[in-house]
Amino acid sequence: MQFTLLASALMALAASAVSASPVSNEARMILDVWAPTIISPNASTVWTEGQQYNVTWDTSNAPVNISNGASVVLGKDGKLTNTTLVSGFDLRQGWVTVTCPSDVIPEDDYSIVLFGDSGDQSEQFTITTSLEGVLSDL
Ligand SMILES: *[C@@H]1O[C@H](CO)[C@@H](O)[C@H](O)[C@H]1NC(C)=O
Ligand SMILES: *[C@@H]1O[C@H](CO)[C@@H](O)[C@H](O)[C@H]1NC(C)=O
Ligand SMILES: *[C@@H]1O[C@H](CO)[C@@H](O)[C@H](O)[C@H]1NC(C)=O
Ligand SMILES: *[C@@H]1O[C@H](CO)[C@@H](O)[C@H](O)[C@H]1NC(C)=O
Repeated sequence: MQFTLLASALMALAASAVSASPVSNEARMILDVWAPTIISPNASTVWTEGQQYNVTWDTSNAPVNISNGASVVLGKDGKLTNTTLVSGFDLRQGWVTVTCPSDVIPEDDYSIVLFGDSGDQSEQFTITTSLEGVLSDL
C-alpha cells in the first residue's frame, strides 16, 4: 500500500519533469524511461568467482543524451546487494567489463542491475567458485 502511494507520488514528480531531483536508485527504476535490455548475463550464464566478464546490453534504442555515470550493481534473489561491480562508464558503449566478486556464496539466483538514466535488471544467473567450475567441466 505504501509502495503504491510512493509510486503515485513519483509518477506525479515525473509528470512535472523534476528529473534533476535526487532520488534513490529504487526511485530511479520507476522514474526513468530508457531501460536497455540486458543481453548478458542471462539465465544461461555462469560466472566463476574472480574471473572477468562483459555485461552487455542493447543500445539500439538509446536516447541521444544519456548520462555517463552508469553503474552495475550485483543483485541476489531479486534484490540489490551493496556490491557495485563497476561505475562511471558510458551507457552508450553497450558493454562493460566486470570482475565477478570472489567473496559471494555460489548460487543460481544472482542478477545484475544496470543503472544510468535507467535501471534494469538482468535475468538470474549462476555464480560458481573456481573449484565448482573445474568440476562441472569434467
Ligand atoms: C546469454 O549470455 C551469454 C554469455 O553469458 C551469451 O553468450 C549469449 O549470447 C546470451 N544469450 C542471449 C539469448 O542473448
Ligand atoms: C569485452 O568486450 C570487449 C569489446 O568487445 C572485448 O575487447 C573484451 O575482450 C571483452 N572482455 C571479456 C572479458 O570478454
Ligand atoms: C544533447 O546534449 C548536448 C550537449 O549537452 C546538447 O547540445 C544537445 O542539444 C542535446 N540534445 C538533445 C536532443 O537533448
Ligand atoms: C555489504 O555486503 C557484505 C556482504 O555482501 C556485508 O559483509 C557488509 O556488511 C555489507 N555492508 C553494508 C554496509 O551493508
